[in-house]
Formats: sequence, C-alpha cells, structure tokens
Amino acid sequence: MSSIEEKARHEAQTAMRKAYAPYSEFRVGASLVTESDDIFSGCNIENCSYGLTVCAERVALFKAVSEGCRKFKLLVLTSDSDKAIVPCGACLQVLAEFCDDLKIIVYNGDMIGRTSLAELLPHRFRL
Ligand code: THU
Repeated sequence: MSSIEEKARHEAQTAMRKAYAPYSEFRVGASLVTESDDIFSGCNIENCSYGLTVCAERVALFKAVSEGCRKFKLLVLTSDSDKAIVPCGACLQVLAEFCDDLKIIVYNGDMIGRTSLAELLPHRFRL
C-alpha cells in the first residue's frame, strides 16, 4: 500500500468518526485524492427527511470541487460495517461527471478491496 493510500485511509477513518448518522447508524468516510495528492474527506450526513441524506463520497467531492479541484486519481472508502461497501449509483454518476476513471479502494476492518469507477459504472449517463 502506497503512502498516499495510507494517508487517504487515515483521513477517511477520521472523517467517518464525524458521520451524522442517527437514523441508519451506518457511518461512512470517504477520501478523494487529487492528481497533486491533496486529500478531501467527507462523511455521510443524514436528515430526518431521509431523502435529503448525503453520502460521504459526495460530501468529499463537493468539498474538493468547491475548492477548485476537479482532477482525481483515487477514492478511499471506509465504513463501520463488517461488510465492504461500494459507492451508491448516485455517487458513481456524480463522480463520473469529473472522472473518466478513478481507482477506488474500499476498507472494512483490515480487509481491502480494489475496484474502479469504470468497473462499477461501465455505462454512465451523458448529455
Ligand atoms: N452511504 C454513504 O455515505 N455512502 C455510500 O456509498 C452508501 C451509503 C450512507 C448514506 C446513509 O447515511 C447510510 O450510508 C445508510 O445508507
């Protein structure tokens, strides 16, 4: 595991601990690494109007884009579940707006899974 992957994992775990998830009690942390190795992290933020919940991945992405970063090389995901998770379909489509492809690493506990945006979303919506 490279040092940037380790750093992104650490920041995703730190973000996960800040998740606001009183309804699902399912905490997620995401770190998005830019081409220049800056890291933007996010957690899921739920709402009592459930559909207004925002996933950790989109929080991280929107933080990055709002800071002027649009080129990414890696997404690292952590959750407090004992099952590996992958980004939901909505997050994949939003990530696809900025990334042709993106390496994705998923951690649960010490287990690591490697996949990519192209593998999870081979056919994206385009205008
Ligand atoms: N969630 C994420 O943050 N990312 C995902 O990839 C899947 C689901 C959140 C949304 C909600 O707060 C909780 O997990 C349960 O669905």
